[in-house]
Amino acid sequence: GRILILHGPNLNLLGEREPEIYGYETLKDINEDLEGLCEDYNYQMHAFQSNSESELIEKIHEAQQIHDGIVFNPGAFTHYSIAIRDAISSVTIPVVEVHLSNVYQREEFRQHSVVSAVCIGKITGFGSHSYSLGIQALIQHLESKS
Ligand code: DQA
Repeated sequence: GRILILHGPNLNLLGEREPEIYGYETLKDINEDLEGLCEDYNYQMHAFQSNSESELIEKIHEAQQIHDGIVFNPGAFTHYSIAIRDAISSVTIPVVEVHLSNVYQREEFRQHSVVSAVCIGKITGFGSHSYSLGIQALIQHLESKS
């Protein structure tokens, strides 16, 4: 199988961006760890980061041809991008929403997600481990269907 890990805006700065909230690991560190995890489950992983809404939307559309599911941290788009939400509901592959920080412990504007309702589930608050939990949840979902 194949899994796409999608990272939204500002996540290219992981490691240096508010590390007390988002951790000291870089995006490269995180992607490398996740690749090992996917290999253990016999899944091939691709990772993509963009600060651009349109690039993320196009990647979601394309993923349908290539991947079995997506683990997606939409960053701030989580809270207001109806276009990202519509992209998720336009494809038939499952999407897991993940966040490094516990969005419910933070500002009120982070407590609403416009994408949660079109994802199969969400993981928030476990730092980079949110992605590994997201991968495991996605794989379990995929294998329970096959
Ligand atoms: C985030 C939480 C969002 O509110 C924020 O805009 C981000 C990162 C997280 O991973 O905790 O960019 O998605």
